[in-house]
Amino acid sequence: MPTSESARRVWRWFAMRENCAEDNTDLFAALAVESPVVHFPGLWVVSRHDLVTKLSNHPALTMVSPDFPAEIREGNPEFTAFFSRSMSVRAPEDHRRLRGVLAREFSARNIERLRERIDTIVDGLIVPRAHGAPFDFVAEVAVPLPSLVTAALLGLPEQDWPQVTRWARGLLAQLGKSFPGVVQTADPISVTGFQELRAYVSDIVDARHGGGEDVISRLNQAAASGQMSRDEVIDMVLLLFMTGVDTVTSGLTNTLACLLTRPDDWQRVVDDPRRWAGVAWAESLRLLTPVTFGARMAAEDTRVGPLHFRAGEVVLLSFAAANLDPRRFEDPLAFRWDRNQSASLAFGHGAYFCLGAGLGGLQAEATLSRLARTGVELATPVDRLDWRAELTFNSPAELPVRVGATAGETAVPQAAVAPGVVTGAAG
Ligand code: HEM
Repeated sequence: MPTSESARRVWRWFAMRENCAEDNTDLFAALAVESPVVHFPGLWVVSRHDLVTKLSNHPALTMVSPDFPAEIREGNPEFTAFFSRSMSVRAPEDHRRLRGVLAREFSARNIERLRERIDTIVDGLIVPRAHGAPFDFVAEVAVPLPSLVTAALLGLPEQDWPQVTRWARGLLAQLGKSFPGVVQTADPISVTGFQELRAYVSDIVDARHGGGEDVISRLNQAAASGQMSRDEVIDMVLLLFMTGVDTVTSGLTNTLACLLTRPDDWQRVVDDPRRWAGVAWAESLRLLTPVTFGARMAAEDTRVGPLHFRAGEVVLLSFAAANLDPRRFEDPLAFRWDRNQSASLAFGHGAYFCLGAGLGGLQAEATLSRLARTGVELATPVDRLDWRAELTFNSPAELPVRVGATAGETAVPQAAVAPGVVTGAAG
């Protein structure tokens, strides 16, 4: 049994499903220093920066589908089957083929095309709340924004966005049920809900064959040229609802929490958002890394230096701890503007590196720039915030703020919000 307190805490969380609804930054910082490698029966937790980097890209360690409990396997078999077919958990050659197709969709040029659309969506969520009364930034902005942006990315009709947002939350809630400690904040998608979502996506996929510029049309073009099948197009669209939503919710929340608790740093963003919003986003995600672990399984007995992974063992790579490793980041708990962020593991590393990092960054830039112009402050002392209960996302569950009450344009003209777009679409 591991001896350090940080390793024991991780064990209590995994084995005993201990509730950990608090800021676990101290745990991740301690893991990197005291317990860089911990071996439980059948499970490794690796936290040292150089090892996490190396193992993220090791060919014998592949991402696998979660071990869904019988309740989900039997209760929602189509969901389980979909997840087990999704790109990231496919055999390495299929993963590389599908990743190659998707990576083109997320090129800097394609993402940049969404900038204005994202600004409009952000304005639609924030501007109507810029009257100084407190509201929860998580529920009202950080949760709906990435679903709406995913819908825009896919070119889905705007009247469908509220329904699509509800489906996305249901998918994530269904997936979350397979992780220890997760407290459900939405109802998991039902069997019929999943069938409806799949039918909705497959109708749209079948209707888009005109060489359009949206992601679905371009995935169809890849299918027409034999790079993927029609079913893989549908699964890819569903995967985007899962990978690009909760991650951004948590990333935006963490960034705003980091900045609003450091008024001098926030002021720097207010003074020049174009220059500093992106840097603030990167440093906040390093310090308060939203996706705390990446999961791999050893496909065969594998030795990496002194570590001997047996076939079938799960290896958890702690991105959150590695980002606080003092061997790699000087004074790791300090928020610094001058760090070289290329070593940050907030978006993973290597074979599975996040394809949506640029899209997440664009949403952060739009949100921070709007808040910098409108004025924002915390409405609750940070030490009284509720945190998400699962260790897989280190993030406040809520972030009460006041917007428009502090600085800048207190009253934003309603004309700044495009008519009919997104207000109240959180579903
Ligand atoms: C703050 C925002 C985000 C964070 C922190 C984040 C984090 C991550 C991390 C850590 C991984 C690698 C997991 C591993 O190696 O185990 C990953 C993979 C991935 N992310 Fe993101 N992500 C974010 C936003 C997005 C967005 C907006 C999208 C797309 C709409 C997206 C799509 C993906 C995909 C498709 C993969 C899998 C890549 C593969 O299997 O090759 N992510 N993300």
